Amino acid sequence: MAGVKLIDVVKRYPNGFQAVNSINLEIYDKEFVVLVGPSGCAKSTALRMVAGLEEITDGQILIGDRVVNDVAAKDRNIAMVFQSYALYPHMDVYTNMAFALKLMKFPKEEVDRRVRRAADILGIEELLDRKPKRLSGGQRQRVAVGRAIVREPEVFLFDEPLSNLDAKLRVTMRAELTTLQHQLETTMIYVTHDQVEAMTMGDRIVIMKEGHIMQVGTPLEVYNFPDNKFVAGFIGSPAMNFFSAKLVQVDGGLIIDSGSFQVKVPKESHGIYGGYKDKEVTFGIRPEDIVDTLPQDARGQWEKLNAVVRLIEPLGAEIILEMESGQQRFVARVDPHSKSRLNEEAQVYFNMRKMQLFDAKTEQVIPRP
Ligand SMILES: Nc1ncnc2c1ncn2[C@@H]1O[C@H](COP(=O)(O)OP(=O)(O)OP(=O)(O)O)[C@@H](O)[C@H]1O
Ligand SMILES: [Mg+2]
Repeated sequence: MAGVKLIDVVKRYPNGFQAVNSINLEIYDKEFVVLVGPSGCAKSTALRMVAGLEEITDGQILIGDRVVNDVAAKDRNIAMVFQSYALYPHMDVYTNMAFALKLMKFPKEEVDRRVRRAADILGIEELLDRKPKRLSGGQRQRVAVGRAIVREPEVFLFDEPLSNLDAKLRVTMRAELTTLQHQLETTMIYVTHDQVEAMTMGDRIVIMKEGHIMQVGTPLEVYNFPDNKFVAGFIGSPAMNFFSAKLVQVDGGLIIDSGSFQVKVPKESHGIYGGYKDKEVTFGIRPEDIVDTLPQDARGQWEKLNAVVRLIEPLGAEIILEMESGQQRFVARVDPHSKSRLNEEAQVYFNMRKMQLFDAKTEQVIPRP
């Protein structure tokens, strides 16, 4: 059992490109941490540095309390599962899973014990004598995980292991991996570009952008209290709506003026936002905090505005509306009984208690009270 620590870790590739810019991260023992971010943000690079497959340019990596900068990948006591499972096609499942242990000269009985235990955990006992080409995608994926489990590592590393699977299977495997982690109680670092995967699997999520860590937190922390506009826009689907706006004082109240519409800032937030009076800000509100019918038990402050419906996406349990108000466009996620009609004007309400404001220049959040 071990945690993992990255201290001021930098990665510059031989061509001079700096992929990772001094990141600090502590992953606790038995924790499930997900690295998430758009393509190219250096998730794989970060993971491969922990694995020892990529040298670090600067800083320190610790597994447990051992600095592993100069420890070879095979001696780090980690196991990694990649997107391409890279199973040996000519070996059956049993041999695929046993292979690494045999190389490490484990006694036959121990190899057998570990392979059967992993097969039992993953529910693939009846597949042990099959060759990979006779397995489904999900089964192959389980074998790849099995190969990692038999090593009984201190840390599991996963690099987009589900992205070759179809959407439905991905959801199933996602749940299986989460259960597996609870069962094995082993530290796991999991890389994905899919924010839903990150939200549903991680004890904590690390959101990355261009080699920087933008925020670390539990799924609900990063969702409800994003540190910056990037995280606010990356986590949540459909994404948070953003409006360039100005904070203006009128009759003792504060107003967000987007040019196309004005909404009042809740009184309890005046203190915190007051310092941004007359400044450029970005106003953010999530699609689910916009409704086209005010809930009967509506509490707090709902600001009404008129908008034209430009697109309707009925999803069954909800409807996504793309709306237009003056120059501004935004997305609302409304009740399936919505009466809004295409290209007609509708009244919508913003739940101002859920609003976010960002400094227009730094894109940092102005923390909500
Ligand atoms: N060997 C290399 N030499 C130079 N640049 C590299 C090398 N490998 C990766 N990079 C660059 O480093 C950056 C991070 O790459 P990385 O593969 O870690 O991103 P990622 O977040 O895993 O992306 P994806 O979601 O597409 O897998 C990218 O800009 C990539 O082009
Ligand atoms: Mg990658």
